[in-house]
Amino acid sequence: MRTKITELFGIQHPIIQGGMHFVGFAELAAAVSNAGGLGIITGLTQRTPEALANEIRRCRDMTDKPFGVNLTFLPVIAAPDYPGYIRAIIEGGVKVVETAGNNPQKWLPALHEAGIKVIHKCTSVRHSLKAQTIGCDAVSVDGFECGGHPGEDDVPNFILLPRAAEELKIPFVASGGMADGRSLVAALALGAEGMNMGTRFMATKEAPVHENVKQAIVAATELDTRLVMRPLRNTERVLKNVAVDRLLEKERALGANLKFEDILDEVAGVYPKIMQEGAMDAGAWSCGMVAGLIHDIPSVQELIERIMAEAEDIIRRRLAGFVSA
Ligand SMILES: Cc1cc2nc3c(=O)[nH]c(=O)nc-3n(C[C@H](O)[C@H](O)[C@H](O)COP(=O)(O)O)c2cc1C
Repeated sequence: MRTKITELFGIQHPIIQGGMHFVGFAELAAAVSNAGGLGIITGLTQRTPEALANEIRRCRDMTDKPFGVNLTFLPVIAAPDYPGYIRAIIEGGVKVVETAGNNPQKWLPALHEAGIKVIHKCTSVRHSLKAQTIGCDAVSVDGFECGGHPGEDDVPNFILLPRAAEELKIPFVASGGMADGRSLVAALALGAEGMNMGTRFMATKEAPVHENVKQAIVAATELDTRLVMRPLRNTERVLKNVAVDRLLEKERALGANLKFEDILDEVAGVYPKIMQEGAMDAGAWSCGMVAGLIHDIPSVQELIERIMAEAEDIIRRRLAGFVSA
């Protein structure tokens, strides 16, 4: 399948694996790229630029296909060493960067000068247009369904994607709620040039997370996610668990007085415990509503082959059948 996104990134299939904290290590990124998609290493999971440089080297040892690095610009007090991370990306010869969070404008000249394509992930048409204006090469349009941070506008992809198509000139991929060939064909029908998946890639053999995490996703239904940190305007969609119940109770009790310090136990530094130790109630962790569509733990190669075969079958048989004489 050829789309503007496969052309832009030099990949076989229009499928991207979005950056995921403590999930997007070299093993997963390489598996996705080897299967013909675009794998992405999560920059900030690496504690220092040197560690990121090493992760990029590890990924290159596992694949000769293109892969990317995610750089998330967070609303934190002590900013990470972004110039150092950018240097590691450039010196590592990475050709794609997925930015997310704040406006990446400041870093674009250095990245573009190094021949790096930038895809900015955003949750609104407004921010997508801004990304286009400042010179991003593509956007990842992340609907309200998505795992992680859906923003504060709550517009689901059935509206957000065609709205993005009405406004944008640069190519975009659909992100949030994508799981299979049906998602891909629907995304293309709504104007996207491909799709980005997070939660679906976590439940794969190669995802370097504890088996408990994969089983929790398979067991979850589309009713099992919750939105946390809404009062802080830092909304995150997470899988419901004991810690999330406690967090939501604090939000209810404190109302407008809630501060980030009040929920540190539930959100700060919990990812290694969950993703690596499998302590499923240790805190809040991002998960999309799409968990309801995830029923197995295939290899990345099996997953991508299945998606592409299903997409082709839908286009050639089901859809063509509706219009043929
Ligand atoms: C466990 C997890 C961690 C994530 N961490 C990040 C992150 O650090 N930076 C980022 O830009 N997006 C992050 N995301 C969002 C994904 O890249 C992607 O946009 C999202 O998962 C798409 O929605 P889906 O889960 O419905 O596929 C994370 C998602 C999950 C599920």
